[in-house]
Amino acid sequence: MAKIIINGGKTLSGEVKISGAKNAVLPIMSATLLCPGKFTIHNVPDLRDTRTMMQLLEITGAKTSFNNGSVTIDSTGVNNPEAPYELVKTMRASFYVLGPLISRFGKVQVSLPGGCAWGPRPVDYHLKGLEKLGAKLDLEGGNILAEAKELKGADIHFEFPSVGATGNLVMASVRAKGLTRLYNCAKEPEITQLCEFLNSMGADIEGVGTDKLIISGVKELNQADITVIPDRIEAGTFLMAGALNGEIKIKNIIPLHLKKVTDKLIEVGCKVKIEASSILISPPQKINSIDMTTAVYPGFPTDLQAQWVALMSLSESSAIVTDTVYHDRFSHIPELARLGANIKVEKNTAFIRGVNQLVGAPVMSTDIRASAALFIAALAAKGKTEISRIYHIDRGYEKIEKKFLGLGAEIMRES
Ligand code: UD1
Repeated sequence: MAKIIINGGKTLSGEVKISGAKNAVLPIMSATLLCPGKFTIHNVPDLRDTRTMMQLLEITGAKTSFNNGSVTIDSTGVNNPEAPYELVKTMRASFYVLGPLISRFGKVQVSLPGGCAWGPRPVDYHLKGLEKLGAKLDLEGGNILAEAKELKGADIHFEFPSVGATGNLVMASVRAKGLTRLYNCAKEPEITQLCEFLNSMGADIEGVGTDKLIISGVKELNQADITVIPDRIEAGTFLMAGALNGEIKIKNIIPLHLKKVTDKLIEVGCKVKIEASSILISPPQKINSIDMTTAVYPGFPTDLQAQWVALMSLSESSAIVTDTVYHDRFSHIPELARLGANIKVEKNTAFIRGVNQLVGAPVMSTDIRASAALFIAALAAKGKTEISRIYHIDRGYEKIEKKFLGLGAEIMRES
C-alpha cells in the first residue's frame, strides 16, 4: 500500500502557491449538468475528488477533459440522471448532482452517501428541501429516486446552514417555477462562488454571500466559464505548518477567507503579514495554547480543526478545541497520540495538553483533513513518520509532498 515517509524536524522556508478550492470546484462541475453546453473551469486542482467528479459526469453522459489546470465539460449529451453507489461511496460530494439533474430531467436517482469515518453525515435537509419544491421521493436499493414534473418555488428554512444542502437546493431551484426563498443558508465562499457561477449562467439569485437567498426561477440557462477561488483549507494547512516549523509565504490566496484563522494564529504568537493575495507566516518562540471552537463561515472552519489540534499538541500549556459543526470529527486524535500528543476527547471537545516534542511513528490517515493534521505533525516531529492510506490526502491536496519538498521538508512517497 502506498505511504508517505516524512523525516521530521527540518525547518521549513520559502513560498508555496495554493491550488483551486476542492469544495468550490465540485459543486461548480455539478452545476454544468443543469443545461446543455460547453463549460470551461480554470484553476482546477488535480485531485482524486476532481477526477471522481469527472467520472460521475461521464456516467451521466457528459464529455470531460482536463488540461493544464482547466477542465472542460460538454454536457450536451447528458441523458442518464444517475449517480451510482460505487462513486458516491468514495466521495459524498457526488450528492451535488441531485439538484441539477432533477432540475434538468424531472427525475434523478442518486445513491445515499451513508456514513463516513467521522460520523453519520445525514442528507435530510437536501431531501426535505427537494420535497418542498414539489419532488416526490422514494428510497429503493439504497438509492434516492426523486421525481417532479415541474419543480415549484417554495420557502425553505435550513435547520443548520449546511454547505451541501444550500448548494443542492440553489441548483434545484434556479429553474423552478416562481420564487424560492432559502433561509439560514451557508455563506461559505465556495457557496458564494457557486451562486455567482449560476448567475453567470443566467440564473437570478439575489442575496449572494448572505444567509438568505432569493431565487427567481428562469426558463433557460446557458453555458459559462469560471476560474475557481483558491483553496482556503489548503492555505490554512500551510499556515499551521508554518506556525509549527518555519517561515512560509502562502501565495495565490484570498486572505479575507482566512481572517478567523490568521486572527487565531496571531493569538498563538505567530507573526502574520497579510498582503493582497498572500500571507507570510513566521512561527513563535513558544506556541501559546489557544482554545478554539469551529463554526460556520466566517467562523473557524471545521476543515482546519484537525490541523489546529496538531498545532496545539505542541503548545506550551493546555487548549480546548470544540467542533460545533461535526460532533465526532476526531479520528486524527488516536493517530496524533501515536506521535506522543496528549489529548483526551469528551463528546465534541478535545482537551489538549501540550508536549515538548512529538516523535515519529507509523500512523494511518482516516480522512482528508485528519491526514493533513498527521502530515504537519510529522513534519514537526523528531525522526521518521510513515503515513499509510494516503489516498485520503490525495483526495484533497494537490501535489502535497512536492509543495512541502519545495519548502525544505524531507518527504518520500512509496508506492
Ligand atoms: C461541506 C464540505 C466539508 C466541510 C463541511 C462543513 C464539501 C464538498 N464538503 O460538507 O469539507 O467539512 O461542509 O463546512 O464542500 N447536516 C444535517 N443534514 C443534512 C446536511 C447536513 O444534519 O442534510 C449537518 C451535518 O451532519 C453537519 C452540519 O449539518 O453536522 C454541516 O454539514 P454540511 O455543511 O452539510 O457539510 P457538507 O456539505 O457535507
